[in-house]
Amino acid sequence: MNTLFSGLVVLAVLYVWSRHHKFRNAVLPPGPKPLPLVGNILDLTARELWLRVEKWARCFGDIVYIHVFGQGLVFLNTQQAAVDLLEKQGSIYSDKPSLVMAGELCGCENMVAFTRYGDFARRQRKLMHEALGASAVRTFLPLLEIETHALVRGIMADPKDYIGYIRKYAGGLTLLVIYGYRVTSNEDPYLMLAEECVDILSNRIASGGGIWPVDIFPFLKHLPLWAPGSGFKHKAIEWRAKMEEFVEKPFQNLKEQMKNGTNVPCFVSHLMESSLERGDKAVDQQREFDVKWTANSMYSASLDTTITVVQDFLLAMMAHPEVLRKAQEEIDRVVGPGRLPAFTDRPNLPYIDCVMSEVLRWGCPVPLDLWKMMFITACLSRKELWKMLRNEEVYPDAHEFKPERFLVEVDEATAKRRDPRNFVFGFGRRRCPGNHLIEQSFWIVMTTILATLDISKAKDENGNVLEPNVVYENSVFRSPSTFQCDLRPRTEQALKIMRQTADAH
Ligand code: HEM
Repeated sequence: MNTLFSGLVVLAVLYVWSRHHKFRNAVLPPGPKPLPLVGNILDLTARELWLRVEKWARCFGDIVYIHVFGQGLVFLNTQQAAVDLLEKQGSIYSDKPSLVMAGELCGCENMVAFTRYGDFARRQRKLMHEALGASAVRTFLPLLEIETHALVRGIMADPKDYIGYIRKYAGGLTLLVIYGYRVTSNEDPYLMLAEECVDILSNRIASGGGIWPVDIFPFLKHLPLWAPGSGFKHKAIEWRAKMEEFVEKPFQNLKEQMKNGTNVPCFVSHLMESSLERGDKAVDQQREFDVKWTANSMYSASLDTTITVVQDFLLAMMAHPEVLRKAQEEIDRVVGPGRLPAFTDRPNLPYIDCVMSEVLRWGCPVPLDLWKMMFITACLSRKELWKMLRNEEVYPDAHEFKPERFLVEVDEATAKRRDPRNFVFGFGRRRCPGNHLIEQSFWIVMTTILATLDISKAKDENGNVLEPNVVYENSVFRSPSTFQCDLRPRTEQALKIMRQTADAH
C-alpha cells in the first residue's frame, strides 16, 4: 500500500510540475501569489467565493488568474471582458471542461450545464428553445397565474411555512411544465428527490469551487475502492445512484402514463409524440436520450434559482418598506381592489418592473456562474457576475437596493448596459435558457404577492422585531438561508378574492 501511495505522490508531483512548466513562459493575467506546486488552493473557499474574487478584482483588474495544482482558473470581472470572449468569440469559448468527478464519476456529464460544446449540446439547446423560448413561454401564462394563486393561497393559509410554498411553487411549476406531473404537497416525493439532488450537485459536488483532486489528476479515478484516499469514489457511487434516480423516475413515470393515455400534455410528451407523428415507429433512442437529459437539466437548474429570487424579493421588501408601499400604490392605482393582477397589466406597472430589475441585480442569484468553466488557452474561466452587478460606474451606490435607479432616463446603449438581465443569466451560447420563463413567472409571483400580502419583519411574542439573520452557504447559488418573515393578507377583500381563485380552478 505504501508503494502505491508513494507512486501516486510521485506521479502527482510530476504531473503538476509538467503542467506548471508548460505555462511558465506564458503571459498570464495577474492574480494572488500562488504557493509552489499547490498554487492558490488555500485562496479558494466554499462560501461566498465571489466576495474574495471581488477583492482580487480590486487589486488585479478585469481578468484575474489563479492556479490550483497547475490547473489555471481565469475570472472575468467585467461585462466587456465576458462579452469580448464569450459572445464575440462564442464559437471557441462555449465549451465546458470534462470534470471527472461531477461528470464521469457522479454521472452528470449529460446534464446541459456540463455538456461539452458540440452536437449533443446543440441538440439540447434546440430542445430547450422549443420548450422555453419566448413564444413557448407565452403559452404557459395562464398556468403561471393559476400556480401563483395556489402559492399565495398556501401562504395565506399557513404563513409560517411560506418557504415550503415557494419551494412547492418552484419545483411544482417545472414538474408540471416539463413532466406533466402535479405536485400535491410540500412533501411530494419527486420534489424531495429533486431537492436532495440539487443539494448534492451544488453543495457537495461543487463544494469548494467544484474542482476535486481527481479533476486535476485524472489518473486518480483508477484508484481501487479499498485504497486510502479513495473516499471520493465511494461518495461518487452514492451520488451517482441518486442522480440516476432523479433522471429516470419522473421520465419513466410519464412514459408509462403516455402508454396508458393518462398523461398531461407537457414538454416531454410533446417532443416524444412529435417524433412519433413524423412517422418514426418508435421514438428513436437518441431522441429519447436527448429529451430525458434535457428535461432533467431544466428541472435541476430552475429549482434553487427560482426559490432564491423570491426570497431575495421578500428580503428587499422587509428591508425597504418605502419601496413596498410605492409598489403597492402603483398596483392599487392600476389594478384596483376588485381583481388580481394579470399579465396584461404589465405595460401599466413600470415601477414593478424597476423593483424586479433591482431584485435581480441586488440579489445576484448566480454570482460566479460556476458551471460555466470553459477552457481558455487551457484555463478554466469563471464569470464574476457579482462584480459586474456591483459596478459603481453603472450602478451608483451599487450595494444599496434602489429600484429608482432604473427610472433615470438614459440612452439606449446605457439602458442595455444597465439591464441586469444582460448579466444575471450569463453570456453567449450557454446563456440561461430559462430566462424567458423566469421573466414571466417571477413577475406574476412578485406582483400578486404585492397586491395581496403585506410583508414585514417578524416579531417575537413580546413584539420585538426579529432582524433576519441571513447567511449564504450554498456554493453555487447566492441563496439566502431561511429567515422569518411576517406575511399577512393586506385586506379582507384580498383574502376573499384569493380564496375565490381556488373555486375558479
Ligand atoms: C432567476 C433565475 C435564474 C437565474 C439567475 C439563472 C442563471 C443562470 C446562469 C448564470 C447560467 C449559466 C449561463 C452561462 O453559462 O453563461 C444558467 C444556466 C442554465 N439555466 Fe438558468 N437561471 C435561472 C433560472 C432558470 C430556469 C427557470 C431554468 C429552466 C426552467 C434554467 C435552466 C438553465 C439551464 C438548463 C442552464 C444550462 C445552460 C447551458 O449550459 O447551456 N435556469 N442559468
